[in-house]
Amino acid sequence: MKQTKSKNISMLKAVIITIPPMVKAAPILFILNSLISILHGISFAWITICTQNFLDKAAVFAKNEISIHKVIFSLSVLGFAYVGNKLLNSIFAFIYRIEGRKVQGKLTYHFNHKVSKLSAMLFEDISFLEDEMKAYEGLNNSVWFSMTFLLTFTFYTPYFVYLATYLYLKQPVLVYSLLLAFLPMLLNQVLRTRLFMNLLDEITPIKRKYQYFNDCMTSREYYKETRMLGAYSYFNRYFKEALVLMNRLRMKTFTKANLFELSMKFLTGLSYAGILYLLYYYVIRGNISIGVFVAVFTSIERLYGLMHELVCDHVTYLTEDLAGITKYITFMKLPERNGEDSDFIENKDLKFKNVSFSYPGSKDAAISNISFQIKESETIAIVGENGSGKSTLIRLLVGLYEPTKGDIFIGNMNTKETSLSSLVKPISAVFQKFQRYQLSLKDNITISELGKQLDVKKLNDILEQSGLNPNDPIFEKGYDTILSREFDGVELSGGLWQRVAIARGYNKDHEIIVLDEPTAAIDPVEESRVYQQFAEICKDKTAILVTHRLGSAKIADRIFVMKGGSLVESGTHEELKAQNGEYARLYSSQVQWYFT
Ligand SMILES: Nc1ncnc2c1ncn2[C@@H]1O[C@H](COP(=O)(O)OP(=O)(O)OP(=O)(O)O)[C@@H](O)[C@H]1O
Ligand SMILES: [Mg+2]
Repeated sequence: MKQTKSKNISMLKAVIITIPPMVKAAPILFILNSLISILHGISFAWITICTQNFLDKAAVFAKNEISIHKVIFSLSVLGFAYVGNKLLNSIFAFIYRIEGRKVQGKLTYHFNHKVSKLSAMLFEDISFLEDEMKAYEGLNNSVWFSMTFLLTFTFYTPYFVYLATYLYLKQPVLVYSLLLAFLPMLLNQVLRTRLFMNLLDEITPIKRKYQYFNDCMTSREYYKETRMLGAYSYFNRYFKEALVLMNRLRMKTFTKANLFELSMKFLTGLSYAGILYLLYYYVIRGNISIGVFVAVFTSIERLYGLMHELVCDHVTYLTEDLAGITKYITFMKLPERNGEDSDFIENKDLKFKNVSFSYPGSKDAAISNISFQIKESETIAIVGENGSGKSTLIRLLVGLYEPTKGDIFIGNMNTKETSLSSLVKPISAVFQKFQRYQLSLKDNITISELGKQLDVKKLNDILEQSGLNPNDPIFEKGYDTILSREFDGVELSGGLWQRVAIARGYNKDHEIIVLDEPTAAIDPVEESRVYQQFAEICKDKTAILVTHRLGSAKIADRIFVMKGGSLVESGTHEELKAQNGEYARLYSSQVQWYFT
């Protein structure tokens, strides 16, 4: 899934792709914004005409050929044009911002939805995570990109066309000179685009490290260990190195871009001076009135200002954004985890057929050629040393990952061919790295039941089965206690958090339940209770339990022993002990620890 170096799409393609969702996200604001923007553009041109009109009238009045009223009238019209322009400017800025925020919110919503449909395996791929980060930045850029692009039509074009027609009618050569002045600016953009796209590609991996080292020094998750280890200077050193490297790359790009921009600005200034000379020439020869001279003189400055704003600010950002927008567009087109919806019916066994699995970017297989069948209602314990592949096997078994080779069946459903929502329906899982949601106790447990009526009796039973008591003083507001100090709640111990995770697993409707080392943080007395309860709960359900406590594996009907990614032994506790293989070795080492 390497797409970090993807080629950027053209500006036109980006426009075609990004504008429709933007319009769809806020259609009324879009229409309103476009209308105001057109009027705003025209109001600028209108000022030019009113200025000329007023000055010409004043000149005629000076020769006593018209009354003062006519001069005052044209002055009032000019005043109105100015006030109207300012008013339109404020309204436009207001609507522009509101529209931008609204579109941003809606697109983020679609982005998150897309993420939820991608294969979970992608999240193990570093280059994917990088692209996801860039795509999210690209999303935000795409909003301003498409809105700015539309501005060229609704604001700049009406203004330029209006003024160009006006100038053409006065002296056609003025229009050609203006067009010439555009060239250096455009040239500037071509170079800037290249430079900034390269910068983005170079800087993203460094930025990820920079943020990670920063987290290691300052985030709540890390700071205890960082302080205890005295590792602050260690992280600070790498943080500084990343910062210096990023700044150096940025500086190099900015210097190149700004030097070029400076020379292009010099050329633009020259053409500006040329136009002024032309105006002077025509007024001296009497081809244009003094009113036209002043009106054009003042509006040309505004025109240059607007052209500069359009090309050097907007187009610069548009082109700089193009790299991020490309990532965003590519991301939104990523193939989703496909698969048909299906029901978990009839045969409810779990089957692995010659399954192998390698993590993205990893040469070695984490799971090698495993086959087994777990009968409906069977309880299986999976044991093995660290890194032997137990958690990976679990992720495959619940359908989160698809096998690299072979097939996995959850009942009638082949995990490669079935939608994830169908696969996870009959399964509940408590993962080794479970989440600690900063929500209430109730929401932490019932998170999978959005919109369901709360069944307090069921909740009480589940809490008891998981070794929790809602009347425990730590839960100061009972089920409504927030489990996070950051949100004015309480901080639970590691063991209590693990029980909350178990309760969440029990609460989700399931016919198959999977627990990956559920008691690693729980004290020994509670631990044996958890296993007894588990055995009780799973009597008529398929249950899979990953554990390092081999004593607890005895509750299982069968034990699977993993080693180096392979399933090396399977059988009952007694059978495996008698085999005198890997299980017997692991078991005797634990027995020795407890009883010698
Ligand atoms: N996200 C990942 N990317 C690449 N390799 C991984 C990833 N997660 C695990 N592995 C590798 O896959 C192998 C199996 O890991 P797994 O976590 O399944 O082992 P485990 O038996 O659950 O270990 P433990 O007892 O420590 O929980 C290991 O070699 C590990 O390094
Ligand atoms: Mg594990």
